Amino acid sequence: MNYENEENSRVLDGGIHNEEYKHEVLLRPTDFSEYVGQLKVVQNVEVMVQSAKLRQAAMDHALLSGPPGLGKTSLAMIIAKSIGSELHVISGPAIEKKGDLAAILTNLGPRDVLFIDEIHRMHISVEEILYSAMEDYRLDIVIGQGPSARTMQIQVAPFTLIGATTRSGLLSNPLRDRFMAHLHFDFYQHHELAEIVANNAKKLNLVLDQEALKLIASCARGTPRIANRVLRRVRDFSLVKGETRISEDSVKKSLSLMEIDSYGLDRMDRKILQVIEEYYKGGPVGIETLCATLAEDRTTIEDVYEPYLLKEGFLLRTPRGREISQKSREHLLNNKS
Ligand SMILES: Nc1ncnc2c1ncn2[C@@H]1O[C@H](COP(=O)(O)OP(=O)(O)OP(=O)(O)O)[C@@H](O)[C@H]1O
Ligand SMILES: [Mg+2]
Repeated sequence: MNYENEENSRVLDGGIHNEEYKHEVLLRPTDFSEYVGQLKVVQNVEVMVQSAKLRQAAMDHALLSGPPGLGKTSLAMIIAKSIGSELHVISGPAIEKKGDLAAILTNLGPRDVLFIDEIHRMHISVEEILYSAMEDYRLDIVIGQGPSARTMQIQVAPFTLIGATTRSGLLSNPLRDRFMAHLHFDFYQHHELAEIVANNAKKLNLVLDQEALKLIASCARGTPRIANRVLRRVRDFSLVKGETRISEDSVKKSLSLMEIDSYGLDRMDRKILQVIEEYYKGGPVGIETLCATLAEDRTTIEDVYEPYLLKEGFLLRTPRGREISQKSREHLLNNKS
């Protein structure tokens, strides 16, 4: 079992250890050879890792951005493993006080990797601690208040900060400027997802027909995490049916149970399009109004759902709000529930 990557990491925010999480751990790529796709990102990272090793120094700081489930955390783990250093994982919004971040930074060993997830949601006062830490491996701590206040400087070990964000646009400029590399993750191509599904089927001891594999890959919203989720549901379905080989038909039935359609859209995706069509005559409608009608949080809509709908041309973003496309109208007509 490939739990080793997670073992050399310390989940500081007490990550969730539910079934989904265990499954993700089991299916995580453990080195560059297992990491499929994102070629530009991987090429950049490999050079940075090699250079750090040759210089016997900490790797430069890197910012990983892109929609959820595309492999940012997995890549950070592979980086730490390749450098042979410890990975410390923390979620940006979970750091409440400057002192908490200072404690984390002073506990880092030389060349350790600090992975801050959702870095765009870190409190600004906490974030400021990072500026000098990233630039000079130094913490500037202000002690006291008013005229008697003084600044104390604490050295920290040379470390690498890897920030992950679903919205790089929301990062403050001083923070963004301190990352040497800005690496953007794109949705995966079908053939890349098919490769990931094939590798993971092996890890789970499953035999899949070629057509079954292709169907999972084409309905996974360009996202490995979703491909893995579908694969797990398909496994359950075949197991219950007593199948030794997973057929295309089983995948179709599992997808239908999961309410995923032929374009890989799920219930919420369709609901977004439907609401725009039915309540706002196809749009444009402002994002706030749309979210209120859907009773959904704006961040979830913008970070989780919109990127894929925009990329596939179902949704259009105009200065006056969101509109649906002709492709959406046809798709909704064909999939009327
Ligand atoms: N390039 C890849 N090759 C193979 N599997 C991948 C790849 N990227 C992601 N996966 C699979 O998808 C799962 C989710 O990826 P990961 O947790 O790294 O995404 P993430 O970008 O950090 O998501 P989030 O933004 O939600 O934190 C992993 O457990 C892994 O199984
Ligand atoms: Mg992650």
